[in-house]
Amino acid sequence: MLMASSSNAQWSSRWAFIMAAVGSAVGLGNIWGFPYEAGQGGGGAFVLIYLFFVFVIGMPLLIAELSLGRRGRMSPIGSMKKIAEEEGKSTLWQLIGWSGVIGAFIVISFYSVVGGWVLAYVVKALSGFSGLAADSSAEVFTSFIADPYLPIISHAAFMGITIFIVAKGVEGGLEKAVTFLMPALFVLLVGLVIYSAFTGAFAQTLSFLFAPDFSKLTLNVALNALGQSFFSLSLALGSIMTYGAYLKRDVNIGKSAAIIASADTGVAVLAGLAIFPIVFAYGLNPGAGGGLVFISLPIAFGQMPGGVVIGTLFFSLLAVAAITSAISLLEPSVSYVSEKTGKDRRKVAATIGFAAFILGIFSSLGQSGNILGDVSIFGYSIMDAKDSLTKNWMMPLGGMFTALFVGWFVSRKSMMEELAMNDSSFKIWYFLVRFVCPVAIAAVFISIVFL
Ligand code: PHE
Repeated sequence: MLMASSSNAQWSSRWAFIMAAVGSAVGLGNIWGFPYEAGQGGGGAFVLIYLFFVFVIGMPLLIAELSLGRRGRMSPIGSMKKIAEEEGKSTLWQLIGWSGVIGAFIVISFYSVVGGWVLAYVVKALSGFSGLAADSSAEVFTSFIADPYLPIISHAAFMGITIFIVAKGVEGGLEKAVTFLMPALFVLLVGLVIYSAFTGAFAQTLSFLFAPDFSKLTLNVALNALGQSFFSLSLALGSIMTYGAYLKRDVNIGKSAAIIASADTGVAVLAGLAIFPIVFAYGLNPGAGGGLVFISLPIAFGQMPGGVVIGTLFFSLLAVAAITSAISLLEPSVSYVSEKTGKDRRKVAATIGFAAFILGIFSSLGQSGNILGDVSIFGYSIMDAKDSLTKNWMMPLGGMFTALFVGWFVSRKSMMEELAMNDSSFKIWYFLVRFVCPVAIAAVFISIVFL
């Protein structure tokens, strides 16, 4: 695996690329975000439309971004500009790259705060959650995020690790770690699902997640599902495009995208199946929001045999998954600034990471009960405002323009050459990016604004 910014840097193998891309996709979005968004969106209705968005909108966009990155071989901004020029189109198309780079910077600032919570929970898990009841588990979490210092220290630690890895360029060691640790997280999740199935309210979970109640399917739920599917697949923030820039020409982009999307969705669904049986068994509120995973799982870890080891392992692996995503969030701006200034990559990573850390402090202090807990931006807390700006606005719009660009402004012939898919797959993909993606995204948007 690599993270060099030079334009001739490449992944060491197809497998290294897939692992890095899965590492980017699988993260807090799957294990923290998906269950709580599904919980707030009423369960099955959210899940169904989420799956539709992942495979019908997200996957074609994943293919589009990978191919744009591979063709441009630069930062997202540089690649978009270069391709627009090559195609004789306006260089304003580079705005897609800008929106991605800026969006990724905003996301890493709060992502790192939640990553810090995970690190803090590794320490909490080590000392054991034994005998934690539902309300005391909630109390542990709410008092932790209301603390002015500890979450910021954890946020600093998380950002520090991310900067360190991005600065070094990820070679050898991390590639091995990721190839081993991501599957380990998967296995552990399967184990937790089995545990939850035997001890928790599994039947209720299955009907909650998979029997859609269409009365809950509002436009807002659809928009959240759209944003969440993009977020989970790491789309529209330049991350996937940046990873595509390091991709060899002989890698099959279509197949890779299918693997990445399936692995990502598999982990999200497993997380839901592990968490909701505990939520229902202990009478927690499935719509409780961002605390869901931090409140529900510790109750189970406190009760199961070997809970200290399993709980510690779970939060450690979650931290690894979050760090591999955070790396891909820092990478777009680092690659752009080092490309532009020619400055040493380590300095650039440290400076941008530090700036994101400072911005993140506000998200941390803006948690309910904390110093800035009462600050409201259009009715949102500081973290939720950043989350909503990126997930509900920048990502869907970025995705829509990316689809329009590859579908209508890049020539069909050069897309065909770049993707080298068989004829019928190409036709399906082309139809999806030309018509289905822009129309579906625009429909969700327009109805939110006008209805
Ligand atoms: N996909 C990551 C997750 O689910 C977050 C992410 C979003 C990473 C966008 C890169 C770009 O946790």
